[in-house]
Amino acid sequence: MNISASKILITGGGKGIGNFIALSLLDIAEKVFVLENNEKLLNNLPKHAKLISYQCDITQPETVENVIKSIFDTHGGINVCINNAGIIHSEPLVNILAAKDKKHSIRNWENVININLNAVFYISANVAENMIKRKEKGVIVNISSISAQGNIGQSAYAASKAAVEALSKTWSKELGMYKIRCVAIAPGFFDTPSTKASLSEHMLSKWQNAVPIGRLGKLEELFSAIKFVIENDYFNGKTLSLDGGLTI
Ligand SMILES: NC(=O)c1ccc[n+]([C@@H]2O[C@H](COP(=O)([O-])OP(=O)(O)OC[C@H]3O[C@@H](n4cnc5c(N)ncnc54)[C@H](O)[C@@H]3O)[C@@H](O)[C@H]2O)c1
Repeated sequence: MNISASKILITGGGKGIGNFIALSLLDIAEKVFVLENNEKLLNNLPKHAKLISYQCDITQPETVENVIKSIFDTHGGINVCINNAGIIHSEPLVNILAAKDKKHSIRNWENVININLNAVFYISANVAENMIKRKEKGVIVNISSISAQGNIGQSAYAASKAAVEALSKTWSKELGMYKIRCVAIAPGFFDTPSTKASLSEHMLSKWQNAVPIGRLGKLEELFSAIKFVIENDYFNGKTLSLDGGLTI
């Protein structure tokens, strides 16, 4: 896929990884569509001829359907869809030390599954349907995590990311005949505000030391992986692990 001729949609482009990728893509893509639910973050996005942003809560199926249709109708389509928006949530299945509510909260479980998994399904189904209608080839890129392999204290997060990897395989098999690829990228620990917010300093340095090359990933390195999976038309259905060797 030629990035310079691609119209690229990315969810959660208001901050963190999604923001870095969206802004980096502006230098090389034809158009970048950002879907973001946080109005303040949307307002902070730079004014740029190639950047079109939409306030959209991707957990709302009807809203997603309308926004994707409007992008296809108004801007001539989407060639690359990056399902990036997600929340990192840690909570044990059972916390015997808790005074009450020892079990994992059902509300938290549903919230994580809604954003990290259901929204990926809503977005991808609408993007794929419109790509097929217009006979356009394309790529769906799902941002997973090393937690897809199972991670202590992250039932909901790990389940959502493992499911997203399963969807990438399933969709690559279903959509290949329409020249639509689907891939996943599983980052390890990257240098982002969300990584720092979700881990204590002690845990962060423990994880960092566990990485054979001894450091967090840089967002430039993640962007280079995104570029690779978009450009390489023979990369399909697989998850690219980008974790400095942490999961070897
Ligand atoms: N940060 C890391 O090191 C790391 C590691 C592995 C995987 N990941 C994955 O990368 C992705 C991005 O992570 P991040 O660290 O940049 O997160 P982040 O919290 O910094 O950014 C997430 C973005 O998604 C948006 N968003 C959340 N819910 C939304 C909704 N319902 N509708 C629309 N937008 C919504 C947020 O407003 C925010 O802009 C996530 O899928 C995460 O699981 C991150």
